[in-house]
Amino acid sequence: MIRVAPSLLAADYLRIGEDIRRMKEAGADWLHFDVMDGSFVPNISFGQDMARRAAECGLPVDVHLMTVNPEKHIDSFAAAGAKVITVHAEAVTHLHRVLQQIRAAGCLAGVALNPATSPECLRYVLGDFDLALVMTVNPGFGGQKLIPACIDKVGEVRGMLNRAGLEAIVEVDGGVNLETAPKLVAAGADTLVAGSALYGAADAKAFIDTVKRQG
Ligand code: DX5
Ligand code: ZN
Repeated sequence: MIRVAPSLLAADYLRIGEDIRRMKEAGADWLHFDVMDGSFVPNISFGQDMARRAAECGLPVDVHLMTVNPEKHIDSFAAAGAKVITVHAEAVTHLHRVLQQIRAAGCLAGVALNPATSPECLRYVLGDFDLALVMTVNPGFGGQKLIPACIDKVGEVRGMLNRAGLEAIVEVDGGVNLETAPKLVAAGADTLVAGSALYGAADAKAFIDTVKRQG
């Protein structure tokens, strides 16, 4: 099964509730919620109060923490109703402990890898996360072009999980469109974040249906 997770970053912020409902009606599986702190990445986006309102839509909220010291924000996002919380491997010193903290808060635990980060950093925590988020652009901005080398990394991560007999979710984020989605699914991704291409599509339902058919 392929999941599509619209990124709220690409929504119209003056009509955010309407945009969330539109994506839910179009068949979105999750709502991808990008938290940017102006330090780990240059931009600042949204926080816990917005996540709490977004969770009212009923879709699982998939929180992507692009922040330094993400461990400080895990419990508050879990309390706001997050279903998945993903931290960047590059932003934490004690990854194993932080993943345990996310699970203890009742959420699925995710590890995100920047484009230049090797999948090797997952080797000794393979059983400790529920989701690997392979960034297919440098985090911080929507609307960028996918970096092709990251498609190979998706395959490497899926291969590591298969060899370990694990079925964690492999999510991709950045530059997902109708041309890149089939390649990402073929490489082993099962959850695709889509921002600008999906919100910009004339028919969001057709976009989501097409991506899901790749599986
Ligand atoms: C980028 C964010 C993405 C972003 C994707 O740092 O993590 O979730 O919204 O946007 P698109 O799909 O436009 O590349
Ligand atoms: Zn994201």
